Amino acid sequence: MPHLTVHSSAKVNLCLDVLGARPDGYHELRTVFERISLADTITLKSVKTGKITIHCSHPHVPKGPKNLVYKAALMLKQDFSISAGLDINIIKNIPVAAGLAGGSSNAAAVLSGLNRLWRLGLGQKELVNYASCLGSDVAFFVYDVSFALGTGRGEIITPLKSPAKLWHLIVTPKVKMYTREVFARLKLKLTNKKDNVNILLPFLRKGDVCRLAGALSNDLEPAILSLRPDFAYLKEKLLDAGALSVCFSGSGPSIYGLVRSQQHAFDLRARMDKRFAQVFVVSTL
Ligand code: C5P
Repeated sequence: MPHLTVHSSAKVNLCLDVLGARPDGYHELRTVFERISLADTITLKSVKTGKITIHCSHPHVPKGPKNLVYKAALMLKQDFSISAGLDINIIKNIPVAAGLAGGSSNAAAVLSGLNRLWRLGLGQKELVNYASCLGSDVAFFVYDVSFALGTGRGEIITPLKSPAKLWHLIVTPKVKMYTREVFARLKLKLTNKKDNVNILLPFLRKGDVCRLAGALSNDLEPAILSLRPDFAYLKEKLLDAGALSVCFSGSGPSIYGLVRSQQHAFDLRARMDKRFAQVFVVSTL
């Protein structure tokens, strides 16, 4: 039976502005996504059973209909009346529920992969529509770009051009953080709100890493710290170790230091305590 192996990369948010609450329960965002070199590997295999089955190297990833990957496969199977089943094997390197959008990226990789495996003939626009039904972060991964602006819930994507290849040291504390809980903690300050994304964009376009470092920001940080005040210490640790700048990714708990080079990232990694966190050296993909 035909099969296909795809890579599914993670993201960090270089900047995340929350503009306000929406009537549908979501928040209106402006965010800058960066695709990074940390990735999972997914193998898709058509099977005769008719069933969708998920195998995953990580014990906490749901194997049934709750998994975004399962939802993605089921939507396409039903919409295109595919009788074959599917074995999905996920080798997980991206930490789960960590603000790096591993699950969203896996779902996008499965949408794009099944489009090829089952020869569905879907264009980018149709894939983005499917992605948006699955979650706010999924659409970014349908685009094969390094940087993009996300607006709306985060699902309206505008690719961004930049000559930058950034290096980061990501520190992911060994706790899960749920996006919904973090947004629920958010205290919206709508007066005198700075447009952080617009401040950052010209530096990204020019590839000016020093000034980009000064423009990293995440409006979810106070909500993340209200759940875990101890994470402020991690931020200080990364800055003390020599990062140019430090920022949470998405709804956390992953926090990353922007550094000058791969060697700079390795130097920082050597200075970090790895008992309570996973640590990754990554670059723009
Ligand atoms: O879209 P996704 O399923 O990833 O969102 C998870 C939760 O995060 C939502 O149910 C919502 O509570 C919150 N969220 C939000 N505004 C966004 C994205 C997510 O409030 N733009």
